[in-house]
Amino acid sequence: MMASLVPSTGYAARRNRLETYFDRTASATWARLTSDAPVSGIRATVRAGRNRMRETLLSWLPADMTGLRLLDAGCGTGALAVEAARRGASVVAIDLAASLVEVARDRSPAGLAIDWRVGDMRDPALGIFDHVVAMDSLIHYRSTDLVDLVETLTRRTRGSMLFTFAPSTRPLVVMHAIGTLFPRADRAPAIEPVRERVLRAQLQASIGHARIGRDARVASSFYTSHALEMVAA
Ligand SMILES: C[S@@+](CC[C@H](N)C(=O)[O-])C[C@H]1O[C@@H](n2cnc3c(N)ncnc32)[C@H](O)[C@@H]1O
Repeated sequence: MMASLVPSTGYAARRNRLETYFDRTASATWARLTSDAPVSGIRATVRAGRNRMRETLLSWLPADMTGLRLLDAGCGTGALAVEAARRGASVVAIDLAASLVEVARDRSPAGLAIDWRVGDMRDPALGIFDHVVAMDSLIHYRSTDLVDLVETLTRRTRGSMLFTFAPSTRPLVVMHAIGTLFPRADRAPAIEPVRERVLRAQLQASIGHARIGRDARVASSFYTSHALEMVAA
């Protein structure tokens, strides 16, 4: 069964919350986390884990990307987009959060081919790519919307689509459950843990035009994320 090309109402609601959270509530914190500025212990482990994850995803892309088009889907402050452009790719980097795209643009070295955009990664006007990367930008969506996003983005990919999900490991589920007991106005939109086995089955059932390739998990105390590669058939 093919996933729907029309996003669910749940998708729109979650996307709007993510936009508010990353554009305003957490913008400064996120900009600091993704900089070289000193951060506290927990955030330092998250930063280290995220650096490892970014290196893993980059290691799955060609070393020379001259002539290739890459979409950084949910680019945040743009580190992956910058590295892909340094390899010669022509990059479209898009994020819902205008404030983070502004930070990304300011941080980006001059002379790189990066088209910074504010908007939804689903936008069909972005066109077709050789590679799409969604690092930690799908982790807040429920599994039906996650699969739908992967389906949509793999359709726009000639080569590979790389994304991460939050694996449903016991400690993560417990932390997630505890987190929801404490209402706070500025709490981050929930991360939606997914069972790897279930996700693989859903992807295989929903996506006929790409197959699952490499995978890797990064676990660095407070950061756990699992990368999957979808390879265009
Ligand atoms: C956890 S951050 C990760 C940012 C970046 N990929 C990185 O690894 O540093 C998730 C980002 O995804 C963005 N995002 C979530 N859903 C999106 C969508 N539908 N379209 C564009 N950006 C989205 C959020 O605004 C946020 O900046």
